[in-house]
Amino acid sequence: MQFGFFDDINKEYVITTPETPLPWINYLGCENFFSLKSNTGGGYCFYKDAKLLRLTRYRYNNSPLDNNGHYIYIKDEDTIWNPGWQPSQTPVEDYTCRHGLGYTVISSSKNDIKATQTALVPIGDNCELDKLTIKNTGNSVKHLSVYSYIEFCLWNAVDDCNNFQRNFSTGEVEVQPEINIGTAAMSAIYHKTEYRERRNHYAVHAVSTAANGFDTSRESFIGTYGSPAMPKAVKEGTSYNSIASGWSPVGSFRIDIDLEPGEEKEYVFIIGYAENPDDKKWESFGIINKEPAYALLEKYNTPAKFDTALAALKDYWTHLLSSYIVDTEDKKLCRMVNIWNQYQCMVTFNMSRSASYYESGTGRGMGFRDSCQDLLGFVHLIPDSARQRILDIAATQFEDGSAYHQYQPLTKKGNSDIGSGFNDDPLWLIAGTAAYLKETGDFSILDEKVAFDCDTSKAQPLMEHLRRSFNYTTTHLGPHKLPLIGRADWNDCLNLNCFSSAPGESFQTTGPSEGPVAESVFIAGMYVKYGNEYADICHIAGLTEEENAVRSHVDDMYKAVLDAGWDGEWFLRAYDAESRKVGSHECEDGQIYIEPQGFCVMAGIGVKEGLAQKAMDSVEKILDTKYGIMILQPAYRSYHLELGEVSSYPPGYKENAGIFCHNNPWVSIAETVIDDKNRAFETYKKICPAYLEEISEIHRTEPYVYSQMIAGKDAASFGEAKNSWLTGTAAWTFTSISQYILGVRASFEGLTIDPCLPDSIKNLTITRKFRDAVYNITISNEKHERVSSLIVNGSEISGNTVPYNKDTKVYNVTVNI
Ligand code: GLC
Ligand code: GLC
Repeated sequence: MQFGFFDDINKEYVITTPETPLPWINYLGCENFFSLKSNTGGGYCFYKDAKLLRLTRYRYNNSPLDNNGHYIYIKDEDTIWNPGWQPSQTPVEDYTCRHGLGYTVISSSKNDIKATQTALVPIGDNCELDKLTIKNTGNSVKHLSVYSYIEFCLWNAVDDCNNFQRNFSTGEVEVQPEINIGTAAMSAIYHKTEYRERRNHYAVHAVSTAANGFDTSRESFIGTYGSPAMPKAVKEGTSYNSIASGWSPVGSFRIDIDLEPGEEKEYVFIIGYAENPDDKKWESFGIINKEPAYALLEKYNTPAKFDTALAALKDYWTHLLSSYIVDTEDKKLCRMVNIWNQYQCMVTFNMSRSASYYESGTGRGMGFRDSCQDLLGFVHLIPDSARQRILDIAATQFEDGSAYHQYQPLTKKGNSDIGSGFNDDPLWLIAGTAAYLKETGDFSILDEKVAFDCDTSKAQPLMEHLRRSFNYTTTHLGPHKLPLIGRADWNDCLNLNCFSSAPGESFQTTGPSEGPVAESVFIAGMYVKYGNEYADICHIAGLTEEENAVRSHVDDMYKAVLDAGWDGEWFLRAYDAESRKVGSHECEDGQIYIEPQGFCVMAGIGVKEGLAQKAMDSVEKILDTKYGIMILQPAYRSYHLELGEVSSYPPGYKENAGIFCHNNPWVSIAETVIDDKNRAFETYKKICPAYLEEISEIHRTEPYVYSQMIAGKDAASFGEAKNSWLTGTAAWTFTSISQYILGVRASFEGLTIDPCLPDSIKNLTITRKFRDAVYNITISNEKHERVSSLIVNGSEISGNTVPYNKDTKVYNVTVNI
C-alpha cells in the first residue's frame, strides 16, 4: 500500500494522507540551524546542538504519536482544524505534504478554506520560516482566527525533561505586541530563559503582521487540563495576552482574518535563534538586546522575502546534487541515486546520529567510525567540508592510534564517558581519508598538522595519524594473528571480552583480567582493504619502504584469514575471549554473520581461491530474505554473557538477526567483485526505499530514505523498518550503487568507469563532476562484460580509468560492455 508518490520533477515526495504508518519526516537546515518536520507538522528545532541549544520542545515516545510541533490552528466558526491534521485531528480534505530538499509544504482544505504551510530554514540564517497561505475558495465571506503555536524548550533538552523542581520556576519571556521593523508592522515573542544567567542566546517567535492577540503561558493557551488538540484560547476564539512566568513558556499569535470569496492572504511566522554581541551580555540582567533579532526579522518579514529564500534554497540543492546524475529506464533507480540517497547522505553529514525521530538528540554525538563512513557518501558533494570533518575526527585520535569512539559537535572534544576501545575505529580514518584523496587529489591534507586527543602541542601531520591507525591494528593481534576486537568492532553489540563481568553489570564493561584476547575476522577484512589503500597512499607519497612493509603486513593478514578465519563454507566472524569460534557451523546459534562475508570479499580475500564465491553463496542461501539480508543466523535464542549485547535483543531485531541495512551494500559490492551482476543489483533493490514504496504498510518508515534496520524473519513484524534517516546505510548504498554497480568511482589516478550492470539495465548515461571537470558518460550494456577500454573524447584508451588531466574540462566517454 502507498501513502504518497514521488514527484521527480520537483524533487519531492508527496504524502497524500496524514495517517502514515509512522511519522514521515524531513530535515530543514543545512548549516547551523535545523528543524525536524513531520508530515503532520510535528517536530522541533535547534541551533547547532540538539541537546544543548534546543529551541522547541518535543515529546518522544508519545501517544498519539508525534505530538508537538510548530502548529497552525484555524478557527472557522465552530470548526477548529490544522492544515497538517495534527494536533486537532479534525478531518481535512485534499491533504498533501510535500517533503522537498530542505523544505516541506503541508496543504489541506476545510469548509471552503484552503491553507498551505510552507516551512524552510533559509540559507545563511538561524531560523525556521513558516509561510501560511490561506484562501477562501467559497462564495461567502469568511471570518477566521488563525493561531500559531510552539512550545519552547528550556534549551538543554535533557535538563528540560528531568529537572522540573528548577525548570518550573525559570521560564521568562518578553513580548512586543506591535513593532515596526523596516516598513512592516510585526509582533514578536522572545523566549529568554537562561538569559539571566548571562548566557548570550534567546529565541524569537514573530509574525509578519501586527497580531490581534498572543499567549506565552501554556496553561493559559491550552488550559490547565486542556489538550493541544483543542486549546482553550482557540476554542474560545480569543487570546489571553498571557506573559509566562515559570512553568512552560510557549509562543502563540492570533490573527483575525476576513476573506472575501476568492481572496487569499499570506503571513510569515518566524522561529529564530539570536545571540547577543559579547560586549552587551554582562550588563543585561535579563533584558535582552534585540538588535540581532530585529536584523533577522527584517530579512524575512514579507511573503516576497520568504519566496526569495525558498528559491535560493532550491538553487542550492540543484547545484549540490549536480555532481552525480544518472539517466536510465529504471526511474526508481534514478530518483534514489539523483535525489534521495544523496540528500540522506547530506543529512547524515549534518546530524551524524544525533537527532531523528529515533535518536533523541541528547545521546550520541559524532561517532568516529560513523562519521568516517558518512564521508564516503558526501565527499563528492562538499569536499571542503569533508576535509574539515576529517581533520576534526583525526584530532580526537589518541597517540597510540586508537580513538575516542565519539566526540561532541559543539566542542569537537572526545567523549570520555564512552572512551575508546572499539578496535575497528582507527582503520575507518584511512577509509575516509582515502576517499577524500581520490575525490579531490588534494594530498596537501596529509601534511596538515592535527592534534592527538585534541592537544595541539602533540600535533602531527595527518599522514602520521593514518600511520598510527594502521600500526594500531598491526600491533594488536591475537593468538590467531587476527586483530583484537577490543570492546567491539563495527558490530557494537559483539562484546566478546566481557565474560568475566559481574552479574548484573552491563555487557559493555571491559574485559577479563588476563587481557582481552578476542579476535575479529571483520577487522582483518578491513585491514586488508584499507591497508592496501594506505599502501597506495605511501606509494604516491614516495614512501617505498613503508609501502613495502605495509603490503607485507597485509599479505600476512590475508594468510591469517585463510588459515584461521575460514569456516568451510563462509568466513568466521570472530574468536571469543576464550578462543572459541563465533559465527561458525560449530556454534549452536549465530553460525554465520554477514559482516566478514561482505568485507573480506570486498577486500578481495578468497577471490582467487574460490572462497569468495562460496561465501556469497552461503549468504544467499542462509541470510537472504525477501526484505534484505539478515545480519546473522540462526538468531540467538538466549542470552550469552560471552557474546554481550548481540544476544540481548529478541530474535530478528537489530544486531540479533535483524536486516541491518548498513552491511547489505557490502554484499552488493562483494557481488561486483566476483562479477555476479544480477545479484549485486537484486541485493541493492531489496532494501532500497523507492522499491519498497508499494509495501509501505509493512515497511512503515519513509519510502524515500533508508532505515537502520528492518526486522528479520525471526521477528513477529518481519519486514518492518525502524530508525530511519541517520544510518551509515545511506553512504554505503550510495557507494555500492554509484561506484560499483553503475561503476563510476574516483581513484587516485582519475575517474574509473567499471560498471557491473544487471541484465535489466540496457543503456544509461551518467554526468559526473569530478575535480574541476565534467564527465559525460554513455554506457551500453549489450555484451554484459566488464570494461576493458574506453572511448574518451573520440580516442580509445585501454583500461577502465580516465586519467586526470588538469587542462581538460569536459570528457565525453563512451563504453560498450
Ligand atoms: C549503529 C552504530 C554503528 C554501528 C552499528 C552496528 O548503527 O551507529 O556505529 O556500527 O550500529 O552495531
Ligand atoms: C546499541 C545498538 C547499536 C548501536 C549502539 C550505539 O548497541 O544495538 O545498533 O550502534 O547501541 O550506542
